[in-house]
Order: sequence, then C-alpha cells, then structure tokens
Amino acid sequence: MRRYLIAGNWKMNTNRDTAVSLAKSIADGSQAATGSVDVLVCPPFPYLIPVQDAASESQVTVGAQNCYFEEPGAFTGEVAAEMLADLGIQSVILGHSERRHVLGETDAIINRKVLKSLEKGLQVVLCVGELLEEREAEKTNDVLDEQMAGGLASVSAEQMANVVIAYEPVWAIGTGKTASPEQADSAHAHLRKWLESHYTSEIANGMRILYGGSVKPANAVELLSQENVDGALVGGASLTAENFVPIIEAGA
Ligand code: G3H
Repeated sequence: MRRYLIAGNWKMNTNRDTAVSLAKSIADGSQAATGSVDVLVCPPFPYLIPVQDAASESQVTVGAQNCYFEEPGAFTGEVAAEMLADLGIQSVILGHSERRHVLGETDAIINRKVLKSLEKGLQVVLCVGELLEEREAEKTNDVLDEQMAGGLASVSAEQMANVVIAYEPVWAIGTGKTASPEQADSAHAHLRKWLESHYTSEIANGMRILYGGSVKPANAVELLSQENVDGALVGGASLTAENFVPIIEAGA
C-alpha cells in the first residue's frame, strides 16, 4: 500500500544553528518510525547543506521549498532544479499557496517548474488547494481540477512515480483552522479520481496525497487515519521536534 510521507516545510524560518539542531532532533526522534514512514524536511535554501549534513546518518531526507524552471544561466537570485539535484537534494515543494498567492505564481509557472524538476530527477511535492471564498462558493473541486491540470500539464505517466500531491486548503494554513478529517478525505478522494481519469487507476491508487493546514500532534492521528490521506505537509508544527516527531509517529 501507500507508504506515508510526513514532510516539514520550515518556510522562511530558522537560522543556521537552529536549523541544524532541529534537523538533528528530528533525525534522532524519528529513528524508530522511519522504518515505516518517509520523513522529509524542507529548510530555506541557505540551510539545505547544513541540514543535509546534520541528517546524513538518518533516514530523514531533505527537500527545497522552490526552484526555477530554467537551466542555469542569467537569472539573478534564482536557484535551478539542476543545482538542487547536484547537491543531492531529493525533493522540491512546488505550487505552495504562499508562492501562488503572495509571490504571484500561476499554474503555468508552476507547471514549468514541475517539468524541469522531474527532468532533473527530483521528487515533486505539488501543492493544490482552494481559498476560503472558493470553498464557500462550492468551487473547491473546480479549483483543484484546474490546479491539477495546470500543474501537471505534459507530465507523463512514467514521471508521475516521482510526484506527490499535497492538498492544502488555503484557509487552514497557519490559521489554526484544520479541515475536518471528512473535508480532507473528500478533497483527497476527488484528487484521486482526477488522477484516475487523467492517468490510470494504478497511478491514482499509488499516489501519495498529503494533507496540509494546521496539522499538529493533537489532530494528526485522526487526519492520517482517513482512507485517502497518505501523509502530511506540516508548517508551524514542523519547527520543533516536540511537535513534529509525534506527527511522524502518527504516520508510522
Ligand atoms: O506547507 C505547509 C502548510 O502551509 C501548512 O502550514 O501547518 O503552519 O498550517 P501550517
């Protein structure tokens, strides 16, 4: 069956010392659980290497929070997917709602990043999710369909083996409001159906669909016990081992 993935998105937090000590505490604390659950931490770019070193003796893998869609060249301030792969970084989060809604990324931009990252052998964690007003207008499924079609345009069935989907309702991110387990499961079931109709049932059944949005130790077990929830993308609660390790254990 699908192996759970518990991913921590540290966003623009930590410094070199706290990033390293957090990575070490997560690596130590998750040792028993990593036999049955995958663990990923995504620090800010400057701390990728120190965190990779700190986690090197463990099963914890390290990912980036973004990358650019061009080959290395004259793109001041950007980081190429190829550079991440060169560093041995295995995953990249793309399409996060903060990149969509704060930094103005469109599905077309996200799609170019997805294609380039897959071409370079990175695992892509593609985030999708609706705004509160879209949910209230009962447009959640339409928004998810559009973001899936846009983000995954021209991604081959073979490449889908390196894709993970993260459903993150925007209204639940950093707000303390969590989607109910039923709301999460119903959105995930819809995403799985989309995958079945645009790819194959094998791809749909094998796809890991993570839930993100105010996941914490107190709600992790219930969310992760839903049929279509295969892990979590955790923001705030991934910034301390005290909170993140119990979430990892909930997925084990
Ligand atoms: O990538 C993680 C999500 O944005 C969730 O963040 O757990 O702080 O709500 P949060």
